[in-house]
Amino acid sequence: MTMSKASSAAALLDWYRAMGVDEAIGNEGIDRFAAVEASKRQAQSSHPPRESKTPPPPAAPRREFASLAPDEAVMDARARAGNAKSLKELETALADFEGCPLKATAKNTCFRRGSDDARVMFIGEGPGRDEDLQGIPFVGRAGQLLDKMLAAISLTEDDVYITNIVYWRPPGNRTPTLQEVQACMPFIERQVELLDPDYLVLIGGPASQNLLGTKQGIMRLRGKWQDCEIGGKTRRALPILHPAYLLRTPAAKRQAWRDLLTLKTALEKAD
Ligand code: URA
Repeated sequence: MTMSKASSAAALLDWYRAMGVDEAIGNEGIDRFAAVEASKRQAQSSHPPRESKTPPPPAAPRREFASLAPDEAVMDARARAGNAKSLKELETALADFEGCPLKATAKNTCFRRGSDDARVMFIGEGPGRDEDLQGIPFVGRAGQLLDKMLAAISLTEDDVYITNIVYWRPPGNRTPTLQEVQACMPFIERQVELLDPDYLVLIGGPASQNLLGTKQGIMRLRGKWQDCEIGGKTRRALPILHPAYLLRTPAAKRQAWRDLLTLKTALEKAD
């Protein structure tokens, strides 16, 4: 069976989508088939082609990106974050930071959402597509569910501060790698120090594991207060199920509700 050009293009797009490629990084497409054909012709010919009819494929459009070795990136992040004396300065320092490879493929930096006076800081896994487009954490479907969860315990955006363990979207929404998280961690830690919240809420497994320094899964961690030491101060941290997981697994909303009540009780006691 032969496929028409249109149906083979559609099949290729389906394949990209299945592999998590849901975004074009450059405005111009790159004809990779032309490149392969050209190199095949060159290999077959005993003489180098005098003038190729196939123009070389355009170089992939790349953003200027100074790549740092992972340990250099962490040192650079520490120095920049450590110098910031306010959340505003930290945001500016982050904008100049080139040590996290995710920045090269992201459209925007997602620094934070919510109030700089919040007593509760929510930390998620990483921006998704909608967050990347808007440059604000938790504004897509998972974020809308998070807002409903907050409303259920009488919290609004003005009562909370929301960020992620990485500030740029991992391509295809994959889990950020250890290197990517480590490059961002000095900024996250400084963000916690500068906001100085009473409570941290760690959204999902990767945020919980990276901030608590544990390999335990979220199903074991969720709903139990943990100690989280940052900048010489120990804060109470509550791991909760990620709203993206709740969208896929509505039956888990009962557990999520219990965890929210645990947070509500702590906030009421402290009032
Ligand atoms: N999921 C996250 O962990 N963070 C966001 O900002 C959006 C979705």
